[in-house]
Amino acid sequence: MDKFIIQGGRRLEGTIVVSGSKNATLPIAVAAAILGDGVSTIHNVPLLQDVNFMCGVLEVLGAKTQLENSVLTIDPGEHAAYEAPYDLVRKMRASIYVLGPLVAKLGRARVSFPGGCAIGTRPVDLHLTGLENLGAQIKVEHGYIVAEANKLVGSDMSLRGPSGSSVGATGNVMMAATLAEGTTTIFDAACEPEIVDLANFLNAIGANIEGAGTPVIKIHGVKELSGTKYSVIPDRIEAGTFMAAAAITKGDLLIKHALPHHLGAVTEKLIEAGVNIEWRDDGARVTVTDKLRSVDVRTSPFPGFPTDMQAQMIGLMSITEGISVITETIFPDRFIHVSELNRMGASIRIEDGSAIVKGVEKLSGASVMASDLRAGAVLVLAGLAAEGETTVLRVYHIDRGYEYIERKLAAVGASIVRVS
Ligand code: UD1
Repeated sequence: MDKFIIQGGRRLEGTIVVSGSKNATLPIAVAAAILGDGVSTIHNVPLLQDVNFMCGVLEVLGAKTQLENSVLTIDPGEHAAYEAPYDLVRKMRASIYVLGPLVAKLGRARVSFPGGCAIGTRPVDLHLTGLENLGAQIKVEHGYIVAEANKLVGSDMSLRGPSGSSVGATGNVMMAATLAEGTTTIFDAACEPEIVDLANFLNAIGANIEGAGTPVIKIHGVKELSGTKYSVIPDRIEAGTFMAAAAITKGDLLIKHALPHHLGAVTEKLIEAGVNIEWRDDGARVTVTDKLRSVDVRTSPFPGFPTDMQAQMIGLMSITEGISVITETIFPDRFIHVSELNRMGASIRIEDGSAIVKGVEKLSGASVMASDLRAGAVLVLAGLAAEGETTVLRVYHIDRGYEYIERKLAAVGASIVRVS
């Protein structure tokens, strides 16, 4: 298993380039492979474990995939199979995205029920009721979700869960509804940029979707979809992580391809903390000239502060004077990184869904273990800022969502090496 060895205390300086969005690529690849009837070439695709896992699932379903130089070519093939087995689904929860498209295209789907993960319980009830609303019959047997429908019929529905709208359920239902008879209206739809990108891709292959990016999405069913050439949006969470990297090392980074309208809440909080952010045509320049201040943060669905940036913000606040309260509203148990940060000298306690972070003067390097993607990312950030050497174990979690992170960081002055 690979690990990162980081010598902390180096200021990051220079230009760092953001790759394509993981969370946009995954459903777009699914749509291209299952809903489309022609070859798609998807550009700006990041080379990530999760993208490899998804290609593995799509291959089992009969598609041919090839990822080369950030271009993912997908040939849907014969749409031969309708089962996504446990061995593949357990590696990546986003495999649930194949459920809606399979039942829309083939009239049936058998997808292993995704389990929990390091960030807590993650239900899929909204995915299932959404597809039931379109007329699918769903049962759960032997650990599998089995969905069947002679045809899907458009319907009106809300996809709001206890903590807001679900990104995954919105994407799943939106994909299924493209081939349904009639019109589907999703109220309380997720507004995340990745949903907009998916809708743009679907429209490019012949779908008829309006309103993506707003809480009301209308999908007018069409008979068939084709293939296209498409380029995915930049990864806003990777960009946000680099913004935090500039801040935590008191550095000066130009984060190329970061988009201001994707990062409004993150920008606002970093500025409130005293970070300088200059939005330019080619990205964000992030510098720190003054002492930072502690800020309180509450995660919420887009355009609110993303849960996928919560860990990184805790990392930054851990060496910022004062007390900050970081409240997690999307995945209440998503604090597994806190104990590892405390091992590096941070002073953080969890109380009722919030991390109470008392800023310390410095972190000190230690051996720490990544337990999920963003929890791993914050350990890298902490290692960059800490005194001495940090070893981050279980780097495969980080490889799920960050393309060549050690190369990108080393190129702007970090001392970080991967050891196999
Ligand atoms: C996606 C992102 C993930 C991000 C999350 C929230 C992908 C591949 N992953 O995950 O990185 O952290 O959005 O922005 O895009 N919920 C239900 N019932 C459901 C589904 C969800 O109650 O059927 C709840 C969840 O428990 C959670 C909230 O809804 O509290 C949001 O989850 P959701 O938006 O569905 O997350 P994912 O799509 O899994």
